[in-house]
Amino acid sequence: MATIGIFDSGSGGLSVYREIVKLLPYERYVYFADNAHCPYGEKSVEYIQDRARAITDILLGMGADIIVVACNTATAAAIAMLREEYPDMTFVGMEPAVKPAALGTKTGVIGVLATAGTLKGSKYLKTKGRFEDDVRIVEHVGEGFVELVENGILDGPVAYETVRASIQPLLDAGADRIVLGCTHYPFLRTIIEAIAGPSVQVIDPAPAVARQTVRMLDKRGIPIGEGPFSVDLYFSGEPASLQRIFALL
Ligand code: DGL
Repeated sequence: MATIGIFDSGSGGLSVYREIVKLLPYERYVYFADNAHCPYGEKSVEYIQDRARAITDILLGMGADIIVVACNTATAAAIAMLREEYPDMTFVGMEPAVKPAALGTKTGVIGVLATAGTLKGSKYLKTKGRFEDDVRIVEHVGEGFVELVENGILDGPVAYETVRASIQPLLDAGADRIVLGCTHYPFLRTIIEAIAGPSVQVIDPAPAVARQTVRMLDKRGIPIGEGPFSVDLYFSGEPASLQRIFALL
């Protein structure tokens, strides 16, 4: 049985946990929500690196065999540093799903929704650079999305209007693919799809990250599939939002 450590600034990483557990239903999971310090989106790189280091130490103390950085913003700010400072540990990070969006678009325009930190990160800028000669990439921060999810507001008029304000510019630009570049956003997917309509495909990289987690465990020779399944949720702030989202899964 593998111990899989997962962290995010809050409940968003549960959208990644949900995909990993589909592929690996018999492992031990330790999930850390750093919700006392959420959101990460506008914080400095140094701040996020300090948090990532502190959380990694906690997850290592709990026996993690692998750590999934289930946060695009933390991946952008800290995964290179984590790999350098913890050379014996395997880290799996989030990939902005620009490639499948760029390959699939019919209009030649793709939309990327992410936090400011992710959109500034060198990983995203590099990926974007590979495709922007072929397709037009329109970006928008999902303004207020993280706060909606952390407060458990996943439907209703406030959620609808908040989501609409950030995706309308992408739709107006002609995007027929919308990449979810923040792990909180999949919890608003129903609203995003309702506003965007059937001609727009919403792309969540979490299933690909789950497959990569399986590949990395296999590469490291960590035995999987033996059980028993367990999941422990830890948080630095209030438990309510995490429990609410977890109940939905
Ligand atoms: N869920 C995170 C991400 O994927 C962080 C959101 C935030 O804390 O701003 O980027």
